[in-house]
Amino acid sequence: MDYNKIAQSAWAIFPDGYERLNTPPAKPGETPGATPELNRILASVGRLRPLPGNVTRLLRAIDDPATTAGMVADYLLLDQALTAYILRVANSAQLGYSKPCASPKDAVMRLGFKQVKALVLSTVAAGPLTRRLTGYRLGSGELWQHSISTATRARWLAQAVSFNAPEEAYVAGLLHDMGKLLMDQFILSDYPRILEMMEAKKLFFWQVEGRLFGIDHAGVGGLMAERWSFPPNLQEAIRCHHAPGQSQAQQKLAALVNVADTFSNLETSPQSRPGKNREIHPDSLPILNLDERSLARMYEIMNKALAEMGNVYLAPDVQDDTL
Ligand SMILES: [Fe+2]
Ligand SMILES: [Fe+2]
Repeated sequence: MDYNKIAQSAWAIFPDGYERLNTPPAKPGETPGATPELNRILASVGRLRPLPGNVTRLLRAIDDPATTAGMVADYLLLDQALTAYILRVANSAQLGYSKPCASPKDAVMRLGFKQVKALVLSTVAAGPLTRRLTGYRLGSGELWQHSISTATRARWLAQAVSFNAPEEAYVAGLLHDMGKLLMDQFILSDYPRILEMMEAKKLFFWQVEGRLFGIDHAGVGGLMAERWSFPPNLQEAIRCHHAPGQSQAQQKLAALVNVADTFSNLETSPQSRPGKNREIHPDSLPILNLDERSLARMYEIMNKALAEMGNVYLAPDVQDDTL
């Protein structure tokens, strides 16, 4: 992984430079000019455990054009929780099938390889997202709730704008803030200072992260996704969810997550979470071919539809052992 290149591109987001805390000469393996925090953040990405073997084997099989639905089902059967999850989604009322599907092979055929892949990826970092993040002042389960809410909204919006991969939007929404898992320890002592800087410089929380550390949680999430060899679209949607115009591979996906994230934050009170981003990035509207009026209408219809649906969209059973 080319940390230098990625770190530099993260800095490029802030043309007036980040707040250099203290940048001693780089040691071997460190990024020259980076803050000690950035070097530590990059090192913690480098230390991430690889994905479990059954997940990588399954993902590799799905990408192989010679693989059949039966073969994917055989790989799935090696993981009970994953099999149960895929069956649950394939039988969910939301997909509108009247006939239940009983076998994993039927489920794979019904959902298609692309959707199975998205669902497998969504289980990867889901467990740790339920953790309490002391640095971000998020109680246990709070980031998980926000992630599910963003994922559900991203999927709904994807369908509303006829985006061809709504499941990908769901996964991108679910994992968009996973960089916070690694950033949390660095935010901990700097939190009051971040709030001060937000106020003084009229910046969003993620922008202050970039200024202080040389990388924000979106950039860190992008590095984690790269480390785990997620599909490039997904890597970029995570990396660019606060600045969709920066995405090279798939701006639409990043813009869908940006809008879904903001809509999800609008459901919480501003006082309860001062750092939450409540503004859609100006790039998102032209990328999605929407104007403000149609977006406002969509917000209303979406909230109504989600309220009617209840909180039924399916999330994986989570186990907090991936990181
Ligand atoms: Fe974020
Ligand atoms: Fe978010």
